[in-house]
Amino acid sequence: MSQRQSHQHENIRQCRQPQHDGIHVEQSSAVSILGSCISTGDDCVSIGPGSSDLWIENLFCGPCHGISIGSLGWNLQEAGVQNVTVKTATFRGTQNGLRIKTWARPSNGFVKDVCFQHIVIDNAKYPIIIDQNYCPDHNKCPSQDSGVQISNVRYEDVHGTSATHVAVKFECSKTNPCRGITLDGVNLTLKDKPTTALCPRNGNNVVKPTTCLKEE
Ligand SMILES: *[C@@H]1O[C@H](CO)[C@@H](O)[C@H](O)[C@H]1NC(C)=O
Ligand SMILES: *[C@@H]1O[C@H](CO)[C@@H](O)[C@H](O)[C@H]1NC(C)=O
Repeated sequence: MSQRQSHQHENIRQCRQPQHDGIHVEQSSAVSILGSCISTGDDCVSIGPGSSDLWIENLFCGPCHGISIGSLGWNLQEAGVQNVTVKTATFRGTQNGLRIKTWARPSNGFVKDVCFQHIVIDNAKYPIIIDQNYCPDHNKCPSQDSGVQISNVRYEDVHGTSATHVAVKFECSKTNPCRGITLDGVNLTLKDKPTTALCPRNGNNVVKPTTCLKEE
């Protein structure tokens, strides 16, 4: 989609296609994706470099891989992702729910001001995940560390079920740790049992699952 244009995708229904994203947004500002129902073989919505002021509301995803911001940070010089809202979305039979993914490579890219609100997740393997160690073949990642700074990401009223014990996983960059990650009203269970959150280098917080973030 081109820059500075506003698009509305209403009632998009796509066939399931392996290796195809439902909707990909990149280098675009002020895009709205409203009332969409997407099933595909890859990401339901994928958000690439240079996306800003993106509004997604009333989305149904499944089966597919969920929403993904990224992969970002392949390039050293890369436009950031800013001001993304995902409001009222259901994920069913998805591998991930809400994912932010960056290559473990040097980059000046960034992700900031993201809000996920009123989300229902049904049996996702990784309901909430930040993965800054992405490097599938373990080459082309000389430092095995991402330069992409992730800041101000809010998860609000996210509930449902996880297919694995670790429902919330934050693997942030070693040199640019995530800043300002907030979970508010997150309740993900595994067959009615509590789940855990994995998040190196942090303290504890009062959400379910008990997470690893310190109040800032
Ligand atoms: C964020 O994007 C929305 C549209 O998605 C826009 O209405 C709002 O003004 C933007 N916020 C800022 C701070 O630019
Ligand atoms: C979390 O969800 C489970 C299953 O739906 C529910 O039984 C439990 O009361 C919820 N906990 C909170 C704190 O909302």
